[in-house]
Amino acid sequence: EGLHSLMLAAGKLFFGTATDVRYLDNKAHQAIVQNPNEFGMIVPENSQKWGELEKEDKGKVDFTNTDIIAAQAKGNGQLFRCHVLVWGAQLPSYVTSTSWTEKTLSDVLQAHITTTVTHFGSQCYSWDVVSEALSSSPDSNTLSTTSLFHQVLGASYIPFSFYWTSLAADPSSKLYYNDFNLELSPSKAQGAVDIVHLIRNYTSPTGEKNKARIDGIGLQSHLFVSSVPSLPSLTSTLELFTNLSLEVSFSELDISHSSLSPSPNATQIEQQEKDYMTVISACLAVKGCVGITVWGFSDKYSWVKDAFPGKGGGCLYDENMKNKGSWFAVAEVL
Ligand code: XIL
Repeated sequence: EGLHSLMLAAGKLFFGTATDVRYLDNKAHQAIVQNPNEFGMIVPENSQKWGELEKEDKGKVDFTNTDIIAAQAKGNGQLFRCHVLVWGAQLPSYVTSTSWTEKTLSDVLQAHITTTVTHFGSQCYSWDVVSEALSSSPDSNTLSTTSLFHQVLGASYIPFSFYWTSLAADPSSKLYYNDFNLELSPSKAQGAVDIVHLIRNYTSPTGEKNKARIDGIGLQSHLFVSSVPSLPSLTSTLELFTNLSLEVSFSELDISHSSLSPSPNATQIEQQEKDYMTVISACLAVKGCVGITVWGFSDKYSWVKDAFPGKGGGCLYDENMKNKGSWFAVAEVL
């Protein structure tokens, strides 16, 4: 049985994966991505980011690659997660090179949100509206000041983005805030709680209240073997958000080895399996945890290799698209 089927049987909505057009020519990879029993939720790894949508000239938006992935998911009866509207990275070059005023950047951001959200409409199970707005320094609940949006617009860019998404989005699409280390740092998790209040208390430029909606928190969970929080700690972080009437999901899960040379030994491999079981168990234990999505399922294509040289091996399938011990561990808890 596939992971998604098992997840459904456990009363959840989805077990999903990131994928993208650049993997389309790998047949073994495609066979797994397109198996709706294995993955019931698909998210484009890069294609839907602002810098990919507006790669060439300002105003020339190209949805082709995302549309390919969305159509494939639809054909397979899989949910589709839209990722990501407002994030400080992978921006179009004109966005990072223009010297913006508050007015010009708000206008451009609003247009980007409205155009993109309208294009995808009801295809999105959810939207990652804002990602990584919080500071990455450990034990901090403050906002990241390195983001262009924060530098020009201040904290208000966050509720502003949720407001314009709320106006444009299909009422059935869930609007998410997505970040990393929420599961590792209580103060960062508190920062996300503060963001929820900021959104809910927002008054629009035209004086409207209660129009900015947030429905969920995505915990990226790019984790490392032996540094995964305990089950009680994970469940209490999830409950921090579900107590605010939000749904939660593990949105970009991978649990990598912190060193690949020498290759991980039996103990480390077993620890990875246990760590996966802990994360899956946390979602199962919390009613408002609707699903789990891995950020790629094969060690061959995992982003971790590039982002953290020397680390990796954190997926459920090996480089040859064969399921690993971590896969069987996940299947076992489900
Ligand atoms: C990563 C992609 O996997 C890489 O291919 C790309 O080079 C950089 O971005 N948090 C996110 C994802 O929200 O969009 C990031 O994806 C990984 C971290």
